[in-house]
Amino acid sequence: MGKDVIIACDFSSRAQALDFLGGFTQEKPFVKIGMELFYAEGPDIVREIKARGHKIFLDLKLHDIPNTVKKSMSVLRDIGVDMTNLHAAGTVDMMRAAVEGLTRADGTRPLLIAVTQLTSTSEERMQKELLINASINDTIVKYAQNAKEAGLDGVVCSPLEAGLVKDACGAGFLTVTPGVRFADGDKGDQVRVTTPERAREIGSDYIVVGRPITQAADPVAAYRRCVEEFVG
Ligand code: C5P
Repeated sequence: MGKDVIIACDFSSRAQALDFLGGFTQEKPFVKIGMELFYAEGPDIVREIKARGHKIFLDLKLHDIPNTVKKSMSVLRDIGVDMTNLHAAGTVDMMRAAVEGLTRADGTRPLLIAVTQLTSTSEERMQKELLINASINDTIVKYAQNAKEAGLDGVVCSPLEAGLVKDACGAGFLTVTPGVRFADGDKGDQVRVTTPERAREIGSDYIVVGRPITQAADPVAAYRRCVEEFVG
């Protein structure tokens, strides 16, 4: 599995997203489309960016009863995503149903990864509000193991948790990690951040990078720097 940099295309309109991607004339970066752009523009934005030659990670974090998730995953499969995700909190049954829904007639399917605990959830809130008494790291590892048991390909996690997940689930279980910043960059609202180079050392398979690229004076140069530091 090749390592790659995924650009978080966090824009609210088709025009902004396509204007941004139009700056890339030589390479076709892997693109993450999140709820904001998807809800604003619908499935056509996925088809359009895909038709321009980009791979698509559709970040909608599904979480519902197994039958609903299975049917929704079939729709996402048919609009041509390369990677998508769900909440591991939906249980192993829900994740298995998602795999079924995503699988094509020939047995192939897009990559499916699970969100364990959102990086915005602190251990204290998880324990007090969700009544999960385990530590956050144990919870992340257990949810990752559940995802593996259900047949998923990996998890979204903080780069700082990628090593734990690899230890528990094996080197081949993918870690997709946001929260990446250049050593000389602005952290923004991210708290637990690491550099592309450090993410590679820890064992991330894909880094998801938004503002350090989208808000850069020269986004193409920032993307290339990320690839250089992460992929080498
Ligand atoms: O701009 P920035 O590099 O912080 O963007 C990171 C992207 O990854 C955003 O699209 C954000 O929603 C997403 N993300 C995250 N932390 C998670 C899951 C997703 O930052 N735990």
